Amino acid sequence: MPDQIPSPSVLFVCLGNICRSPLAEAALRHHAQEADLDVIVDSAGTGSWHIGKCPDPRSRAEALRHGIDIGAYRARQVGPKDFTRFDRIIALDQSNLADLRRIEPAQSRARLSLLLDHIPGMAGQDVEDPYFGGPEGFEVTWHQVSEAAQNLVEALLQERN
Ligand code: 4NP
Repeated sequence: MPDQIPSPSVLFVCLGNICRSPLAEAALRHHAQEADLDVIVDSAGTGSWHIGKCPDPRSRAEALRHGIDIGAYRARQVGPKDFTRFDRIIALDQSNLADLRRIEPAQSRARLSLLLDHIPGMAGQDVEDPYFGGPEGFEVTWHQVSEAAQNLVEALLQERN
């Protein structure tokens, strides 16, 4: 019997882990399931303010509009162990990515990238933080994380084959 190939693993990281990265986590779980791809998915924040909290109600409502309940997600802070646990750590904006590079341990095995690097033509750009705006910002976030998640699923399927 061939050795079992381990599932790929992806961690999404934003600032608070209550608005953007939970939506990215939900989108990747959703698209991976649709493609019958086994993937370990999680999300975290660089900050500690919201540890243990549920997603922002506006994120929860946006996910529900797409048939996904993220009410059981709980915020946590990214830490050094994440760099050896996950194959890929994907930051929602450049400030998150800079913070990740600052805490990245020497033995890190994770590939770091920006979420919008996974959408052709948008590499290097930020998923804007919708926290201080209205609900329309959450809709924009959903579209971006959903498109990136679909592309990521394609890339992971190709790596698997
Ligand atoms: P997130 O959004 O990083 O997408 O979860 C934010 C959540 C909370 C705060 C800022 C951004 N805050 O300032 O508390």
